[in-house]
Amino acid sequence: MSGDPYSARGNRDRSITRDGARGTPLPEADGRTEAVAPGQPYLIGEAMTGGYGKGADILHGCTISVDPGEIAVIVGPNGAGKSTAMKAIFGMLSLREGRVLLDGQDITGLSPQERVVQGMGFVPQTHNIFTSMTVEENLEMGAFIRRDDISVTMAQIYELFPILKDKRRQAAGELSGGQRQQVAVGRALMTKPKVLMLDEPTAGVSPIVMDELFDRIIEVARTGITILMVEQNARQALEIADKGYVLVQGGNAHTGTGRELLADPQVRRSFLGG
Ligand SMILES: Nc1ncnc2c1ncn2[C@@H]1O[C@H](COP(=O)(O)OP(=O)(O)O)[C@@H](O)[C@H]1O
Ligand SMILES: [Mg+2]
Repeated sequence: MSGDPYSARGNRDRSITRDGARGTPLPEADGRTEAVAPGQPYLIGEAMTGGYGKGADILHGCTISVDPGEIAVIVGPNGAGKSTAMKAIFGMLSLREGRVLLDGQDITGLSPQERVVQGMGFVPQTHNIFTSMTVEENLEMGAFIRRDDISVTMAQIYELFPILKDKRRQAAGELSGGQRQQVAVGRALMTKPKVLMLDEPTAGVSPIVMDELFDRIIEVARTGITILMVEQNARQALEIADKGYVLVQGGNAHTGTGRELLADPQVRRSFLGG
């Protein structure tokens, strides 16, 4: 057990995972996940300091990392800088200090689009779908960097989110909140990312829809896609997290496995409502 770096993974919990068959790549994943060196973070935003434009620093030496095939979750109060950290990792914010590494490569200087080519997918917190386009057009737009046949990936997304297949000819803006989030996640999956970043994927949905979305995210992780997500439903998110980060005022306040953070009295009192 001591030799298994994944032994403390919260999402191995039988009550959550369906069969423990995590890490089996999709047929189309080209086995890319296997190229990742074990035991080294797959994605790391290291000691990130920076803000918007010429404005004050929002992030103060913040470090976020996620290991291959794992689910890492960022929680924290409103305005803590969670979205800013995600944008920094995705290259939408230039860092004043620190760096971002993807699979051992320094990608700090790359544009968001170049990062997509390198295997990153991002679902922003807001404006994450094209409301006037159909569901299917949204998915097609998601595949913008691909020149190969996208039909297999699209079929897989419809398998993951069957409701999207039923509604594929409808304008995405006509869908419910939970369905729109499925479109946003599906759109990001169209580039076949190795790591998927999600900023509050369950914002504004009912608890039942939230559980359903978390199940789908776990399913995505099981195909070998590494997940980094921000969540305001801190307790539920930490239950499925291999690793959790509590951010406060742009810095790391608490870090641990999801289970450790859920058990930490200070984290419980301050961030989980006791
Ligand atoms: N585009 C922006 N331009 C300037 N300041 C911003 C921008 N977006 C967010 N901020 C500021 O950065 C801080 C952190 O915001 P954010 O990262 O959105 O927090 P969180 O996602 O944790 O709620 C806040 O003070 C917010 O006002
Ligand atoms: Mg945010």
